[in-house]
Amino acid sequence: MKLPRQFFTPLAIGAPAPMRELPVRLERMIHFVPPHVEKMRAKVPDLVRQVDVVLGNLEDAIPVEAKSAARAGFIEMAKAVDFGATGLWTRINALNSPWALDDVIEIVGAVGHKLDVIMLPKVDGPWDIHYLDQLLAQLEARHKIARPILIHAILETAQGVNNVEAIAAASPRMHGMSLGPADLAASRAMKTTRVGGGHPDYKVLADRYGEQPRAAFQQDLWHYTIGKMVDACAAAGIKPFYGPFGDFSDAAACEAQFRNAFLMGCLGAWSLHPSQIAIAKTVFSPDPAEVAFAKKILAAMPDGAGAVMIDGKMQDDATWKQAKVLIDLARLVAAKDPQMGARYGL
Ligand code: GLV
Ligand code: MG
Repeated sequence: MKLPRQFFTPLAIGAPAPMRELPVRLERMIHFVPPHVEKMRAKVPDLVRQVDVVLGNLEDAIPVEAKSAARAGFIEMAKAVDFGATGLWTRINALNSPWALDDVIEIVGAVGHKLDVIMLPKVDGPWDIHYLDQLLAQLEARHKIARPILIHAILETAQGVNNVEAIAAASPRMHGMSLGPADLAASRAMKTTRVGGGHPDYKVLADRYGEQPRAAFQQDLWHYTIGKMVDACAAAGIKPFYGPFGDFSDAAACEAQFRNAFLMGCLGAWSLHPSQIAIAKTVFSPDPAEVAFAKKILAAMPDGAGAVMIDGKMQDDATWKQAKVLIDLARLVAAKDPQMGARYGL
């Protein structure tokens, strides 16, 4: 076992010191771009103004014959664009694929100083994080990269879910985690072909009362996993996210899935289609009415202790902390989006 004192020691001589605190950044949507498509790359300078994170996807959905072009396209777009306060991430291929090593070596060598986060798919356990952690430290040292590149794991295998706590705490390089419902469904042999969202057959039936028709209540297939992921991330001080929602024609269902994740503690979700950017922005920015109420709580309890009644509702130290989460998030949103800032009165 690694000794606590060594947890923050750089893993290579000349690599930057690991971060003690994660950077405070707005990451409501991680927007996926297929970097081998020139038309899509051309849209990136515009996208940078609309989204919180731009991610160049190299893994699933990129055809095998386009893997090298996607990697080269990502490097080209990373060099060409000024990302400002918008995050620049890439999703590399899985560690057991023939492309992962070159993904990391070439990208870090070419644009490692601009890259914020590497998203690592199909993470089964902390050993996957340790491998990438060590490799990144070696490359950071070789290329004199001053700021550590963070790792974001996708939780999308049954083994990964079993090991979620160890993954979350594997390294100070851990940024967070996203639920990958498509691969996870396959890994668990769940009987669904959907990418996220509910299923009409996953429901409970109301009890039988004589001949009365029985109501059916659809349940959330992802509740258990999101709860487990949020607890693992919150305990380790890293960030939980919902991943993809595949039915682009069903904005309402996408919004419902994103909102459930938000309410349970997630900070953002993936946007795979331009229409999902606005959905994520709405859902993962706190509701102005909630912010107004949170402001009342903070104002009524300046030192965060004791108990007061506001609008008939009991407030104490715990609700003060809940209010603080909302206000801190609202401030981040307001800094990026003055229109929302005005609605929050911040
Ligand atoms: C995402 O990668 C998923 O498998 O859902
Ligand atoms: Mg996947």
